[in-house]
Amino acid sequence: MQQLSFFQDTKTHKNLTRNSFSHNSVCREDARMALDERYSYLLEETDKFNRQLVSFQANKTEVLHSWMKYREGFSASLVELLLKELEVESGDVILDPFAGSATTLLEAKMMGIDAVGIELLPHCHLAWEAKSRAFDYDLDELRSVRGLIEQTIPPEINAKFQHLTITETAFPPQAEKDLMAYTYWFETLDVSQNTKLLCKLILTSLLEEISYTRKDGQYLRWDSRADKIRNNNEKRIAQGKKPISGINKGVLPDVKQILLEALNRIIIHTAKLQRDPPPSSRQNLIEGNILYTLPTMPANQFAAVVTSPPYANRYDYTRTYALELAYLGVDDEIFNLRQDQLSCTVENKPKVSKLEAHYQTIGQHNRYKQILNIVQSNDALVEINTALSKRNERGDVNNRGILTMIDQYFTELTFVFAELYRVCHSGAGVVFVNDNVRYAGEVIPVDTLSTNLAEQVGFTPHKIYVLPQRKGNSSQQMGKFGREALRKSITIWKKL
Ligand SMILES: C[S@@+](CC[C@H](N)C(=O)[O-])C[C@H]1O[C@@H](n2cnc3c(N)ncnc32)[C@H](O)[C@@H]1O
Repeated sequence: MQQLSFFQDTKTHKNLTRNSFSHNSVCREDARMALDERYSYLLEETDKFNRQLVSFQANKTEVLHSWMKYREGFSASLVELLLKELEVESGDVILDPFAGSATTLLEAKMMGIDAVGIELLPHCHLAWEAKSRAFDYDLDELRSVRGLIEQTIPPEINAKFQHLTITETAFPPQAEKDLMAYTYWFETLDVSQNTKLLCKLILTSLLEEISYTRKDGQYLRWDSRADKIRNNNEKRIAQGKKPISGINKGVLPDVKQILLEALNRIIIHTAKLQRDPPPSSRQNLIEGNILYTLPTMPANQFAAVVTSPPYANRYDYTRTYALELAYLGVDDEIFNLRQDQLSCTVENKPKVSKLEAHYQTIGQHNRYKQILNIVQSNDALVEINTALSKRNERGDVNNRGILTMIDQYFTELTFVFAELYRVCHSGAGVVFVNDNVRYAGEVIPVDTLSTNLAEQVGFTPHKIYVLPQRKGNSSQQMGKFGREALRKSITIWKKL
């Protein structure tokens, strides 16, 4: 098999493998050791790409990609590099099944490559819709809207922000009034639907900045000035408890001011993009749950997959992006969106019975059983599940939901891998960006275990690139089980 010349000047390090997976060897670890041993020839550390490239950081200043911050995203440069190295070319169709803010689709568009994405969350769809029209915007119209914002104070309106319980009091009252006034004012302007859509994206992208909240991975952190925190603290003090200290975001920006700044940046980006449009190509972002969408897609159509699933790190996208979801009109539906996410939080309930029903509906019940059997008989996953159970009995696990989360994470991913194998054509390369994790002193080698499961559904493992900077673990873990450097990896498999 031809080796990909992925990055030059790369080094293969034997010491990328681990000596132990279970803190103080409390649990069996031989199956995980065997995986490290089995795939050690694939592990390669390279300094040609770094944390910035595999995170959203590099996108923050990028034309187009910076229009909506998606901190769980990867960078456009990484996608470009991967597509070039996988020798994807015009005429090919690529897939990103966990499309997020559509970095892969947008980069494909810039390179003139056809692409399909799948994504659950509505604000990601808004981001794609608005960003993908960059070449169609009427610049004169955008400039006239900028002039109108400069000169006009939109009339105050009665409509209220439709809060979810978890977003209540997130904005200072004046900021919320301004936000709603601009929201409705834009709707009444005599401008194209494209411009209205872009204005909606801009307002959505500013919600965090004008609020008393800050996205912080797993949580939405709150400023102590928010009524929610103040009321809660008053109660705590009355009960003789210590108040909870919130963050301090300092002076919050004026809505009009940052709206103008954002629109201005977008006008500059749009003018630049429209001067040099890419060759025409087609992209489509499908709204839905990958677990039910992929099995019904036709086989043998994709030349490559470039993706990054939610990490098994307990981050709940529906909480982090609650402001954006509420603003876009998501109400109780948020609970379904939360449960539909690939199991990566302690709140996720198993989806296997739903999956079984789905495979039955499409006449593929045997396939369901085969895939499930692969997961359930995987030695390393059985070892991890047993280890976490033992840790739980010892009182090492701080939330029992972690056990279900880890088991279901790999179960659901295996269904994804199996369907990806089916929808890719032969010769396709599949790239997953992911982090290894550790719970209750047990290291979970997401990269080698995923590779193993992918191999079992048909893929040929090709490479596991390891980032030079390792990822630490949570302070909770560090306190009890010491600091462990965990691999952050880019795994590549091939359908031969
Ligand atoms: C790590 S993010 C991907 C970020 C993307 N690479 C980018 O640059 O923006 C993972 C995405 O998978 C989506 N997701 C999680 N579970 C899903 C499911 N079952 N079906 C469809 N999308 C899902 C999440 O909503 C999230 O946007």
